[in-house]
Amino acid sequence: MRAGTECPGTATWPTEAATAGRRHATLSASRGGTDLRVEAHQPHYQGLDYNSLNGGVARHYAPFEDAVLHGETMSSMLALGCDVFGRLAPYSAWHIEAHQFRIEVTGEESGLPTPEGVHRDGVTFVLMALVGRSNASGGESTVYDLDKRPVEKFTLTEPLDLALVNDERVFHGVSPVERLDPSRTAERDVLVITYGHRP
Ligand SMILES: [Fe+2]
Repeated sequence: MRAGTECPGTATWPTEAATAGRRHATLSASRGGTDLRVEAHQPHYQGLDYNSLNGGVARHYAPFEDAVLHGETMSSMLALGCDVFGRLAPYSAWHIEAHQFRIEVTGEESGLPTPEGVHRDGVTFVLMALVGRSNASGGESTVYDLDKRPVEKFTLTEPLDLALVNDERVFHGVSPVERLDPSRTAERDVLVITYGHRP
């Protein structure tokens, strides 16, 4: 896995060379989602309980570019999460973290969207949206019950295909990404927004 040179339509998406394929933003929303605000850029922390491979330390990622974070698409996605999850948990204010993930496969190795395997994100709800994929096979998402038995499989194939996940009730994982045409790079860009209860 390493950085490619172009991805039409997602020119501001991170390349691995610049940001290890990932950008991060922290936001918050009041109860009802009416007051959505961007918080100061800060490290991402995931406990070992939820991520035994990469958890337990604060990780620093590059921030979102302002044009993306404040753009209409991102604003709409954030609001969609506040709306849907706010109906499921109407008394909750939200700690929100947004992640841009890029996977690029250029060699024999496949790209692992979730190297930690079947996992939970350690939040309350998760919105996962495909931004784009090209020359990519695989990347199939599976949702598991709390005994890690698979209950649903699907592949996000079109831009803005969405999965809304109750992270307290299910685990999830994504299969490796491989190249359809082995002479070209495969790419898969995903936006993940997590919503956690905020006191
Ligand atoms: Fe996840």
